Amino acid sequence: MCFNEKMDTLGIISKPFSLVLLIVFSLHVVPSLCFTSFVFGDSLVDAGNNDYLFTLSKADSPPYGIDFKPSGGQPTGRFTNGRTIADIIGQALGAKSFPPPYLAPNTQAEVILRGMNYASGASGIMDETGFFFIGRIPLGEQVNYFEQNRNFMVNAMGENRTKEFLKKAIFSLTSGSNDILNYVQPSIPFLGHDKVFPTTFLDFMISNLTIQLKRLHELGARKLVVVGVGPLGCIPFVRAFKLLPSGKCSGEVNALIQRYNEKLKELLNRLNQEMGPEAIFVFGNSYHVFMNIIANYRQFGFENADEPCCGGYFPPFICFKSRDANTSASALCEDRSKYVFWDAYHPTEAANLIIAKQLLYGDESSSSPINIHKLYSDNS
Ligand SMILES: *[C@@H]1O[C@H](CO)[C@@H](O)[C@H](O)[C@H]1NC(C)=O
Ligand SMILES: *[C@@H]1O[C@H](CO)[C@@H](O)[C@H](O)[C@H]1NC(C)=O
Ligand SMILES: *[C@@H]1O[C@H](CO)[C@@H](O)[C@H](O)[C@H]1NC(C)=O
Repeated sequence: MCFNEKMDTLGIISKPFSLVLLIVFSLHVVPSLCFTSFVFGDSLVDAGNNDYLFTLSKADSPPYGIDFKPSGGQPTGRFTNGRTIADIIGQALGAKSFPPPYLAPNTQAEVILRGMNYASGASGIMDETGFFFIGRIPLGEQVNYFEQNRNFMVNAMGENRTKEFLKKAIFSLTSGSNDILNYVQPSIPFLGHDKVFPTTFLDFMISNLTIQLKRLHELGARKLVVVGVGPLGCIPFVRAFKLLPSGKCSGEVNALIQRYNEKLKELLNRLNQEMGPEAIFVFGNSYHVFMNIIANYRQFGFENADEPCCGGYFPPFICFKSRDANTSASALCEDRSKYVFWDAYHPTEAANLIIAKQLLYGDESSSSPINIHKLYSDNS
């Protein structure tokens, strides 16, 4: 039985959590066979957490969400026009609904049914990343929130069932882009610290990430996907401050990212040796997948891999449309499915679809040691 489905048909999902709890107890919940996921990361997978923060990093106004069907095209806090990569992967693996944002009210009980999304725009692996955006949830804090949810699960269904439940769930982490962006961006006078050497910086990222991965493992995660950092040297924001002509990426930024991804891959190999085969850590090679899209965008059906669909090609790249007036609407491209970039930082849903598909079903160049579909289907 697929528990999610049953709860959906009962129309329970949106009820207050005490009622969900009552039903959970009365049905003697066995861990769900449905796809459940716990989503950690930054704006690439934020599903609305930043809407509940005081922050400059928000996607709560149109045209964000314009192609997101469940909301009827209204913004949901997702930093793209439609679904995120995490949304698409969940749907492909049979999730009946998206994991709710942790900070949304009354979502705690839903963790047993749908998993949870802790991702937060502007956040990074390091606590201080994104500080000029003010509010954001750093990765370590996201794991703290998961720990709270886990305590709730143990109270609701006991330690053993919680373990069983978590063993089958997919834990995905999509973080690191903002750490790198903060590092390569020109520093702000007065606020800028002296930068540490690139190697030192990358090692900080890796060692801080290692702590969070080990914590998640200790808390019961067994199927983990760690998505590497994509080719940020090619995003409109970086190309603008590096003053690069169209069609050119920053080789310097991309080289740093490739070094990070190499270190990340080594780390995951090591964790697989230490903790396998009970636990699997999958490396999602978003760099390879996204670079392939940019290099061959016409083959993938795109017409523009340079400019953002929303917010124009020049700083300050504001993608915003006032809800009630026709004025102050920012430029929006005519056909969103023909653009790789939605805004100056984020891919369109069309690009997310291709990335998600590669991570799900691709070969070792996209996802290693196994792809996400295999990771989910494996039940040893
Ligand atoms: C939980 O699992 C352990 C070990 O598998 C077992 O000894 C214990 O009796 C179980 N507890 C419950 C409440 O089922
Ligand atoms: C985490 O990163 C910080 C720099 O932000 C560094 O000082 C610290 O040593 C790192 N932690 C570990 C365990 O490496
Ligand atoms: C927006 O523009 C359309 C025509 O271009 C007009 O019909 C409509 O009343 C305008 N809306 C507002 C709120 O001004």
